[in-house]
Amino acid sequence: ADLSKGLKDYFKNDFFVGVAVGSRSIRTDSALIIREFNSVTAENDMKVGVIHPTENTYNWKNADDIVAFAERHKINIRGHNLLWHQQNAEWMLVGPDGKQASKELVLKRLKEHIFTVMNRYKGKIYCWDVVNEAIDDSQDPAVMYRKTKWLEIFNGPEFIDAAFRFAHEADPKAKLYYNEFNSEREVKREKIFKLIKRLKADGVPIDGVGFQAHWSLDYPTVTQLRTALDQIVSLGLEVQITELDVTIHPRPLGAPAPTTPPVDAGFTPDLEARQVAKYKEIFDILRAYKKNIKAVTFWNVSDRGSWLDSRGGGSAGDAKPATPMILKAYPLLFDVNGQRKKAYWAVVNN
Ligand code: G3I
Repeated sequence: ADLSKGLKDYFKNDFFVGVAVGSRSIRTDSALIIREFNSVTAENDMKVGVIHPTENTYNWKNADDIVAFAERHKINIRGHNLLWHQQNAEWMLVGPDGKQASKELVLKRLKEHIFTVMNRYKGKIYCWDVVNEAIDDSQDPAVMYRKTKWLEIFNGPEFIDAAFRFAHEADPKAKLYYNEFNSEREVKREKIFKLIKRLKADGVPIDGVGFQAHWSLDYPTVTQLRTALDQIVSLGLEVQITELDVTIHPRPLGAPAPTTPPVDAGFTPDLEARQVAKYKEIFDILRAYKKNIKAVTFWNVSDRGSWLDSRGGGSAGDAKPATPMILKAYPLLFDVNGQRKKAYWAVVNN
C-alpha cells in the first residue's frame, strides 16, 4: 500500500473524512492529521462555555489556533457547537437578580453569541452544529425533549428554532446541522424525525442532521443504521457522521455506571476481529449513502487518547462513573502508537 495516502484520499469521491482535535493534538499529532484528514472539528474549544465563559469574555486562542492550523493545511472546518446543555455558558441563563433569566434576555444573549462566533469564522467554517442533543434520550416516546434549563426558560423547544434562525442570519452560506447521539435506536429515531419534520414545516433554516455515531461492536445493526439514514434523507437533508468511534466495551442501555473499575482484558484478537468486521460493515453502508453524506468525522485521533477511556465502558448518554476509572476503549482506526489498525485497512478496502 502507498503509505503516503490517507483516509481523505481513499474517500475522495465519497465524503470528507474528519477528526476531532484540540489545541494540543494539532501539535502532537499534526503529521497524522495532515496525512489522513480533510476536515476537523474542535473537540471542546468552540463550545459556548469554553469560548464565551462570562458575558464579556471570549477565549479565542485555542479556537483560532485550530482554525489557523486547518487553513494552513487546506483542511475544512466544521463548527461544534452553538447551543448545548453541557459545557454551556451558565451565565447566559442567569438574570440580573441571580435567578433564572427571562426568555427575552436569553434570546438576546444567544443571538449575540451566535453572531459573534460565526462572524469571526465566516467563510472559514463551512458548517455548524447549531443545536446539540436537545432530544430526550430515554426509551419513553412520550418524553420528546431533554429536560434542560433551555427547555424550562422557553417553556418548550422554541430555543431550537431561534438558534437556527440566528445562525442563518449570521452566516447564510454556512450549512446548519442538528447533532444527536443514539439516533439509530428506534424510539429516539422517531423523536428526532418528528423534530426535524416540524422544523422543516415551520421554515426553520436547517440543512442537515449529524449522527454522532458513538457506536459499539453490536450497535447499530445494519437495519437500524439504514432506517435512520433513510428517514433523514427522505426529508431532503444532508447527513454527516460527526463523532464516530466504536468502543469494544459497550455498556447495556440504561445500565448504571460501574462503582469499581471493570476488569480489562485489553484489545484481544477476538475483540479486534469483531471491531474490524463492524467498521467494515459501517463503511460499506456509509459508502452506499455517499450522495447524502457530506463528511465522516472520528471523535479523537488515535486509541492513545479517546474521551471514552475515562467513561468506565460507557459512551454518550451513559452515566459517568463517580470516581474516574480508565477502561481503554480502543475505538479508532489508529492504535496507541498512531499506527493504522486492521480496521483501517478494512475500511479503505485495500
Ligand atoms: O479543561 C478542563 C481542565 O481545565 C480541568 O481542570 C478539568 C477537570 O475536570 O477539566 C477539563 O475539561 C474537560 C474537557 O473535556 C477538556 O478535557 C472536562 O472536564 C470534560 O468534561 C470534557 O469532556 C468533553 C465532553 O464532551 C464534555 O461533555 C470531552 O472531552 C469531549 O470529547 C466530549 O465531546 C462530546 C461532544 O461535544 C458532543 N457529543 C458527545 C461527546 C462525548 O461526550
